[in-house]
Amino acid sequence: MEQKWWKEAVVYQIYPRSFKDSNGDGIGDLPGIIQKLDYLKNLGVNVVWLCPVYKSPNDDNGYDISNYQDIMDDFGNMKDMENLLTETRGRDIKLIMDLVVNHTSDEHSWFIESRSSLDNPYRDFYIWRKGKNGLPPNNWGSVFGGPAWEYDEKTEEYYLHLFSKKQPDLNWKNPQVREEIYNMMKWWLDKGIDGFRMDTVNMFSKVPDLPDGKTIKGYKYGDGSPYFLNGPRIHEYLQEMNKKVLSKYDIMTVGETPGTPPQIAAKYVNRDRYELNMVFNFELMEIDHDPINKWRSKEWKLTELKKIFTKWYEGLKEKGWNTLYMNNHDQPRMVSRFGNNKKYRIESAKMLATLLHTLPGTPYIYQGEEIGMTNVAFDNIEDYRDIETLNFYREMAKRGLPKEKIMGAIHRISRDNARTPMQWGNNPNAGFTTSTPWIKINPNYRDINVVHDLKDSNSIFYYYQKIIRLRKENLIMIYGDCQLILKDDEHVYSYLRTLNKDRLLIILNFFSRQTIFNLPANIDYQEKELLISNYDVEEKEDIKSIYLRPYEARVYRLY
Ligand code: NOJ
Repeated sequence: MEQKWWKEAVVYQIYPRSFKDSNGDGIGDLPGIIQKLDYLKNLGVNVVWLCPVYKSPNDDNGYDISNYQDIMDDFGNMKDMENLLTETRGRDIKLIMDLVVNHTSDEHSWFIESRSSLDNPYRDFYIWRKGKNGLPPNNWGSVFGGPAWEYDEKTEEYYLHLFSKKQPDLNWKNPQVREEIYNMMKWWLDKGIDGFRMDTVNMFSKVPDLPDGKTIKGYKYGDGSPYFLNGPRIHEYLQEMNKKVLSKYDIMTVGETPGTPPQIAAKYVNRDRYELNMVFNFELMEIDHDPINKWRSKEWKLTELKKIFTKWYEGLKEKGWNTLYMNNHDQPRMVSRFGNNKKYRIESAKMLATLLHTLPGTPYIYQGEEIGMTNVAFDNIEDYRDIETLNFYREMAKRGLPKEKIMGAIHRISRDNARTPMQWGNNPNAGFTTSTPWIKINPNYRDINVVHDLKDSNSIFYYYQKIIRLRKENLIMIYGDCQLILKDDEHVYSYLRTLNKDRLLIILNFFSRQTIFNLPANIDYQEKELLISNYDVEEKEDIKSIYLRPYEARVYRLY
């Protein structure tokens, strides 16, 4: 297996709006991030992924960009961005930026030009179509609810927006659009950034005639996803981008690819195809809900979760590389979703960290995960800010769904679960800001905060610090083969990593009950060494058969 710095990296994702406010306006900013770089250095991460900081009217918190070569006023200015680059580099931390080029803001100068007349040179930068019998060009729904088309009176045509109507989709078929994007990417790379996380990278290419999607019972709109996910020219575009831009720099790239099974993901990340380094697997993110409707929950089993990780590992093995994550700014907090955010919050947060840092792939930590931040449950919709959540509430209320039901779904899966401010201390506003924060702080900040974790040698923070260090010191954790054991066990997740003669055994209890672990007879050892665990463990204990305590995690080296 070829060694690469981005395979050995541990990435820390920053959602700038909620990370640290330095100027008392209630919104996190770039100087705030700089203040906290020593904290990240102490944690041990070596790559920061910065969610969008570009100029934006903030319809979708920066994922609607009006100028790619300027900084959002709320976050600072270009000088601050340059300082951030110097300061990260000074600490040996690399910096990757979000690249959002499936769409721009409707306030981007290209779109302002494009909508101004049918023969404007920028008209073809976006996807314009005539309506059909007074209706939109097709029946697609937008990801954030409502139709995917917006009528524009000026030129009497509709434009496509897969997300909000303030996020018109760019027309990737137009070579001029692609050149503009590549130039902008080079401009940032020449400034010294170390790569990109590519937003909705598998949506750039749409099936040419934009056919109607299947209608699903209970939904007003058609499902257009088969016609815009992993579309016909996507690999051609990415290979072109790779040739013209990416291949000229020593950088990392990670694509966001919803609705993509590992067979297709392998095409994006196969090293002989020269597209991307890694993509984010969404199958795990869909384990607990209807894949088309995230608000409708379903039960999941540990064997399904194991199957997903195994399938992605096997599917990309030798050709490509995996990402490892369980939360981000679009998902609920992982300890609330996959662990236990009550009695066993600390144990389960450490157990999940053990999983994400000992499977093959590059781990991504989302801000606050390292102190076990949890979901939030505001009583009132007025306390929510996310456009997707607000649209969902409005639509469901219109349909007459009881408020408790709507709020229940929001508490479970709203993106705002991950967007409440970082809990730095138990002082007012959790030390995030000196004024009113743009979104309320999770009231549990008095117990769950960084100051607390830094004082307690048994904290989640120090567990992350240790496991990150172990990963750096043990190449087997990165490059070792991975063999699932006890495949059908519904309580224990266990696997063996091997690299030459080196062997690591990972044992994880995924539940809040005690359970038994029996080492399969074909795995033998003379000696063993415990590398990390989230409970005290007797050194001499024989591990042929052991009782695991709730959410217990152990990593052994076997000799
Ligand atoms: C995925 C991003 O992660 C999400 O936050 C955003 O709303 C959409 N793409 C649209 O850019």
